[in-house]
Amino acid sequence: MIKHNDRTKHANIEVNLNKLYEQVLKAKADWQNTFDSISDMICILDKDARITRMNRSFSARMKKPYESLLGARCYEAIHSTCSPSTCPFSAVMETKQSIRNVMEIQLGDAVFTTSLFPFFDAESKLHGAVYVFRDITDQKALENKLLQSDKMAAIGTLAAEIAHEINNPLDYITNYLYLLSESLPPEFGKREYLKKIEAGIDNLAALTRDLLEFSRPQIDIFVPLDMHRVIDESLEFSGKYLQEKQVKVIRDFGCRSHRVAGSVRMLQQVLLNLILNALDAMTNGGTINITTFCRKSHFVLEFADTGIGIPEANLPRIFEPFFTTKKNFEKRGTGLGLTICYNIIYQHKGEIHVSSRAGEGTKFTISLPLHHEEKGPVKQHIVEY
Ligand SMILES: Nc1ncnc2c1ncn2[C@@H]1O[C@H](COP(=O)(O)OP(=O)(O)OP(=O)(O)O)[C@@H](O)[C@H]1O
Ligand SMILES: [Mg+2]
Repeated sequence: MIKHNDRTKHANIEVNLNKLYEQVLKAKADWQNTFDSISDMICILDKDARITRMNRSFSARMKKPYESLLGARCYEAIHSTCSPSTCPFSAVMETKQSIRNVMEIQLGDAVFTTSLFPFFDAESKLHGAVYVFRDITDQKALENKLLQSDKMAAIGTLAAEIAHEINNPLDYITNYLYLLSESLPPEFGKREYLKKIEAGIDNLAALTRDLLEFSRPQIDIFVPLDMHRVIDESLEFSGKYLQEKQVKVIRDFGCRSHRVAGSVRMLQQVLLNLILNALDAMTNGGTINITTFCRKSHFVLEFADTGIGIPEANLPRIFEPFFTTKKNFEKRGTGLGLTICYNIIYQHKGEIHVSSRAGEGTKFTISLPLHHEEKGPVKQHIVEY
């Protein structure tokens, strides 16, 4: 028979156990919530490199359900390989030391740096490892931008010096050539030689013009301008070439507020460079599609051609100064066209990107901040940079 005292004791123990149970549940939920609140991807691996736990960010970024990742080996789930050679897990298990920022991996459009930490239990026995992936996509983009602008600055100085050195002799070569051709008798039979020299000088003059444009410090005053007009005027200038090459232009202007602060001359130059490149890429006619639309506070312009496209290996290089594949062209490319475009768009606080597939065509996407009209005297509308 259970006495009254015993019953009270039992009841108290039960209450305490319930309380403890609730506390354990709460601690577990708190732990899981903390784990899930971390935006870095984290998974816990056992000794066989199998995933025993992961946070929400991990399964979401891997775009796979939690259950399908549970128990999978890390190198299969993450690197899609069936051997651990690419996975730093074994090194951590052998050395029992953490490895930070060991490698970068790409998942979709995002880049991650990975770190692995050995995972010990309360008795300091090694149980596996904690794998942490930190998203460094923005940091990478910024690094690339800085690298690009450093490179631009160094090459810009060099380009200005070269252009200057070439320009001076070019001036007197042109003058003396003129005097020479004037002093030759009309019956002189080798005039085609002079023509060839003139053509060479024209090429050099074009090169120095490009070099100077590339390296010239920004002096244009930026004013609110109509981007659709800039596009139309650029198409008008290139009308003759477009006709000669039988290239059709389809315009689809969707952005209704199309005013940006900028320089008409510079932005026309961007358009002309894109048009010339598209024409070079379409030897047997084709189509240029120009589409505009507004995205958030930006004017977006897509410029797509149906030309030969750009091989994947060349894509990261096309904005680099002097990168050209037109060495055998009649008018040899200098490889400065897109560098100039990049600089101009950068000076307009915009962005230019390219996407292309060899054999299918190329699309450049430019986005520029929209100009918001301010009330007040006209002078305030002029934006100086
Ligand atoms: N629309 C396009 N289609 C295919 N390839 C392109 C296109 N635009 C650019 N490219 C590639 O990018 C390279 C660099 O272009 P960029 O305009 O900078 O130089 P370029 O045209 O070679 O010479 P230039 O200085 O005379 O413009 C080109 O040589 C070409 O290989
Ligand atoms: Mg070009």
